[in-house]
Amino acid sequence: MKFRLLLGKRKYVVDLSKDKFNTQFGEIDLKKLKKAKIGEKIKTHKGEEFTVAEPSLIDLLEKKAKRLPQIITPQDGAMILAYTGLANDSVIVDAGAGSGFLSIFLAHYCCKGKVISYEINQKSAKIAEENAKLIGLKNLTIKNKDILHGIDEKNVDAVTLDMKDAEKNVENAYNALKRGGWLIIYSPYIEQVKHVIEKIEKMPFTEVRTVEFIKREWQVGEYTRPKTLGLMHTGWLTFARKF
Ligand SMILES: C[S@@+](CC[C@H](N)C(=O)[O-])C[C@H]1O[C@@H](n2cnc3c(N)ncnc32)[C@H](O)[C@@H]1O
Repeated sequence: MKFRLLLGKRKYVVDLSKDKFNTQFGEIDLKKLKKAKIGEKIKTHKGEEFTVAEPSLIDLLEKKAKRLPQIITPQDGAMILAYTGLANDSVIVDAGAGSGFLSIFLAHYCCKGKVISYEINQKSAKIAEENAKLIGLKNLTIKNKDILHGIDEKNVDAVTLDMKDAEKNVENAYNALKRGGWLIIYSPYIEQVKHVIEKIEKMPFTEVRTVEFIKREWQVGEYTRPKTLGLMHTGWLTFARKF
């Protein structure tokens, strides 16, 4: 692994291929870090101690992946797994890839399956590819293509859509899905949810539901209360199952 996680007063993901790494507590000797085993302690030149660990998918997405303005968060990604029961060998078609956050999340958990993600914008497709490479995924393919022109794959377990005009892609998605497969549409606006549901209801889909993930973190201490800052609402996820 090209990266190490340093855990202490703060967390840092360190790229071992670089020459230098500065924290707000002083510089880390990268030669020492490269030789350090997981679980060992390492000190900055100012004496601040960190434990060496392996970064998780979430650490890498948070700290190293390039991020375009809108992504599907891991919490919404987890909702997709929870509602559909996708397995580690599932095959998923995704669009648009954007910076690849959702497709990377799904490819990581469906590690024996594969994810094929369509992205119309060349620059975004390149960023998604770079992010997939950084995470070290081999089962994610980014196609620089307009998904509205058709889905090449057939008999897939799921189609996830996070894009403008997603409702125009419901029929394509239906044709690409196997029976029992899931269509999942992420919508930032409730108006899009309505358009999507209208289309879905005209087709042989079942188990249609729309959900919103609301998260509230708490500060716990002498004075305990919900945190006032943070993203509570992200978007809506509409699920539908082909029969
Ligand atoms: C909000 S972003 C997707 C973010 C992504 N789900 C993530 O988690 O990083 C929407 C993307 O859809 C792409 N897009 C829009 N229409 C498309 C189409 N017809 N085919 C493929 N990609 C499309 C846009 O270029 C944009 O990058």
